[in-house]
Amino acid sequence: NTMLSWQRTAFHFQPDRNWMNDPNGPMFYKGWYHFFYQYNPHAAVWGDIVWGHAVSKDLIHWLHLLLAMVPDQWYDINGVWTGSATILPDGKIIMLYTGSTNESVQVQNLAYPADPSDPLLINWVKYSKNPVLVPPPGIEYKDFRDPTTAWYTPDKKWRIVIGSKLNKTGITLVYDTVDFKSYELQKGVLHAVPGTGMWECVDFYPVSKTGKNGLDTSFDGGEVKHVLKASMDDDRHDYYALGTYVHNTTTWIPDDPAIDVGYGFRYDYGKLYASKTFYDENKERRVLWGWIPESDSEKADVKKGWASVQSIPRTVVLDTKTGSNLLQWPVEEINGLRMGRTDFDNVEVPAGTVLSLDIGETTQLDIVAEFEIDEKALNKTLVGGSEEYSCSASGGAAQQSALGPFGFLVLAEECLLEQTAVYFYIVKGNDGRLKTHFCSDQSRSSEASDVDKQIYGSTVPVLKGEKLTMRILVDHSIVESFAQGGRTCITSRVYPTKAIYGANRLFVFNNATEATVNTSIKIWKLSSAYIHGFSNEQKM
Ligand code: FRU
Repeated sequence: NTMLSWQRTAFHFQPDRNWMNDPNGPMFYKGWYHFFYQYNPHAAVWGDIVWGHAVSKDLIHWLHLLLAMVPDQWYDINGVWTGSATILPDGKIIMLYTGSTNESVQVQNLAYPADPSDPLLINWVKYSKNPVLVPPPGIEYKDFRDPTTAWYTPDKKWRIVIGSKLNKTGITLVYDTVDFKSYELQKGVLHAVPGTGMWECVDFYPVSKTGKNGLDTSFDGGEVKHVLKASMDDDRHDYYALGTYVHNTTTWIPDDPAIDVGYGFRYDYGKLYASKTFYDENKERRVLWGWIPESDSEKADVKKGWASVQSIPRTVVLDTKTGSNLLQWPVEEINGLRMGRTDFDNVEVPAGTVLSLDIGETTQLDIVAEFEIDEKALNKTLVGGSEEYSCSASGGAAQQSALGPFGFLVLAEECLLEQTAVYFYIVKGNDGRLKTHFCSDQSRSSEASDVDKQIYGSTVPVLKGEKLTMRILVDHSIVESFAQGGRTCITSRVYPTKAIYGANRLFVFNNATEATVNTSIKIWKLSSAYIHGFSNEQKM
């Protein structure tokens, strides 16, 4: 089926076939990046979960290895679920993961490499006395999962957190250990937010207030903030907040209670869930992986034989300019896929126009663009757009106002019968202040009826003197968009039926009623990544 095979991506990580979900235990070990993932070896729907495993030298090209762990013990027979790696100072690897037992109780288990001298870490051993943790009193047996990477404490112990909930309050349980075999539950929770429900795949790590480098999870210096992230089972988004961690009281306090975990920032305003970061000592950076679920029907997934991809790994740093949000950016290795580049310098895009960018094939692209809005219109316009504007509640790229929307139409069919718009929309308020929104509109992305046609997006901080900038990675059925250097990110899964192969076009548009915009654009075609290997079924 040509239409379905067209959707297969070319440089995003995925197994040969079947279902994938969360990233697990990412790490750098003896010269290799290791990536594990929740995988169903039998079908393109969730179930029979095992740990898939792949290795890479550059986070872009991957070699699939044998399955790392399968359900073969009473304590994980219903699934080898999500977990994290900790690399101890002596180089030893500790893998903690959730098992769903023969009675579907969520427990934590310990595993380690059978042969630590093997850089590929092919074989894994489960600790003979698993499980190492069972749900504590007061916690429901199905609300206890996804252990974090451990960090070293001033008490010379290792500390982990595990997501859970109490009634409708999302919480993080804290445990200390010296040997990863026995654990002490700490008093109080790291953090709790009423009304947010079950916290899955909690992540917790320091970011530097001053430097550009990432920090090891155990880093204990002065100039840091701590990021707390939870994946909200109720609304299927990853929320984070910046705050202060206090070891002695086992607490983390958000900088701004109004943008606490679950209410404030999302890593991504489109499809991205169950993410996990790791510290890459090779390049002194923190790298984020996120699961990009499908947004078509389960029936379509079964038909195409696979479901889900992983995001392009992103570096994560504190935005030292605003001090209040993170910056996420595709790892620099993606630039290695860049082939021919086409520049469009200082292109004037008058209000109400759509310009075709004639570059041939447009299915695998890296687009980097800056926009400047015409000062005259900016000053003349008294009020532009509604102060209540939000991407998701708007009419999308078709909703005009004085100062927007303007941006790109990607994965577009020649007559624009299908198009995915990625754009800025500026609102000039009654007080004369500008507020910039960054959106991705899927409402006309496909003529198919069984796909998500929402409009995604959020606001993006634009500081004085900054141009508006965006970067878009296009890979057949994924559009990953980053505004202002990664302050706001949006991932769209789209399923065109006509804008495929050679029928695919790229446009720049300005649907504002008053403002002319000026844009400079660099477009690279990206080659495909090598993502192959052994059959994943060998061990089953
Ligand atoms: C998140 C999640 C985790 C769980 C895993 C099971 O997507 O539900 O909480 O460990 O997936 O596959």
